[in-house]
Order: sequence, then C-alpha cells, then structure tokens
Amino acid sequence: MEPAHSERSSGLELEHYFERIEGWFKFAPAYRQAVEESPNRATFVEVGCYQGRSTAFLGVEILRSGKQISLHCVDIWPPDAFAPDGRTLRAAFEANMRPLQERGLSLSLHAQGSPAAAEAFEERSVDFVWLDGDHTFEAVGMDIAAWLPKLRFGAVLGGDDWRFPGVARAVRHAFKADFSIRYHDHWAWWWHRVKAAPTTHRPGRPGRASPHAGRR
Ligand SMILES: C[S@@+](CC[C@H](N)C(=O)[O-])C[C@H]1O[C@@H](n2cnc3c(N)ncnc32)[C@H](O)[C@@H]1O
Repeated sequence: MEPAHSERSSGLELEHYFERIEGWFKFAPAYRQAVEESPNRATFVEVGCYQGRSTAFLGVEILRSGKQISLHCVDIWPPDAFAPDGRTLRAAFEANMRPLQERGLSLSLHAQGSPAAAEAFEERSVDFVWLDGDHTFEAVGMDIAAWLPKLRFGAVLGGDDWRFPGVARAVRHAFKADFSIRYHDHWAWWWHRVKAAPTTHRPGRPGRASPHAGRR
C-alpha cells in the first residue's frame, strides 16, 4: 500500500484533480503554506477527510514538493454513509487516493474518531495537524487536547470553519489569543503554531534557540 519513497518520480507532473471529488475544501493556502514550510521529512495529519477532496489537494502538493511527508488521514467514515454513486464513503476515499499512492505518496488511513487516532502517535512527532472533523465546541476541544502534545515544537495545528461558533469558542478557550485567522475567498480558518522549545540555560552552556522561534 505504501511504495518506497524512492519510487516517487512522477509527482511533479501530477495535475490537481480535487475539483472532481465531492466535498468541502476552501483552504488551499493553508495546505500550500504547510507543505512549503515543512521540513524534508515530516508527518502530517488530516482529521476529517470525507471523500478526499482536501486530501487530494494536499497529496498533490506534497508530491510536487518532492518532500518525504507521510500523510495520515483520520475519519470515522461511518459504514452506513454512502457517496451518491452507492459506494461507502471510505471506498470512495480510497479510490480517490489511488492516483497519489500510485505515485508513491505515503498515505495511512485511521478509520476511527480523532482523539482515539491521536493515541497511536508519539509525543512531539507530528509536524502538521489539520482539524476538519466534528465542529462542535466539545469535539474541537477534545481534538486540540489530543493532538497538541503530539506536535513538535514549531509545528502547526489548524482547522477549518472558523465561523462555526463551536470552533471559534474551542480555539479561543485553548489558545487565548495565541492563534491567527486566515482568509481566502470569503472563507476563514484558524492557525496555531506550537511554541518553540524552551531554551535551557546552564552555566557555561548557552541554550540553543529553535529554528522555528518567532514564526507564526
Ligand atoms: C466537513 S467533512 C470533511 C470535508 C473534507 N475535508 C473535504 O475536503 O471534503 C467532515 C468529516 O469529518 C468526519 N468526522 C466527524 N467527526 C469526526 C471525528 N470525531 N473523528 C474523525 N472524523 C470525524 C466525518 O465523517 C466527515 O467525513
């Protein structure tokens, strides 16, 4: 299911095809920025994939970048939820991801609720998490609590649908003012950068600043 990265050769020529997939995706600049800023080897998580419209965009951006970014896709994909053509949502998602996997994108599916999926990840091991799952105050709060410890210093946790009252309340509750709102085409999402590692000051051994210090 996951070809070795050495087989990744044709990602640069891959055209975007997300517009052919049903779904909700209005945050392309967020995904572009995440890939641009990403280290060469990185772990990305998307929560809330549905049939893969946003995932397809992100996957193409990753392949075009030539970076070795592993993409983890988290969704409950209810077994009794179907795409208009009769396939289950998960079957539709898997079919829509095939062009990316054929070109060597490292893609892992986590068919479970977001907080449970987070348990499989080591602390400080993830570079980017995007929340586009359940937009209620309680769910977004649980998502933030579950994923925040998994992020490396300097990494980004963000999410869609800032204008949903539950999303805005949960984000303010978690981060006070330590986040920004980004807009594109009358759409808004939120973006929080995990603070850089605290510097350690020992006599005769100056602390080292993180390369991500000061970025927002
Ligand atoms: C708004 S849709 C995602 C849209 C998608 N990003 C796109 O581009 O079309 C929300 C998705 O989140 C999933 N979801 C809802 N609650 C969830 C949870 N607690 N954990 C994981 N996924 C969840 C739903 O099954 C649904 O597919």
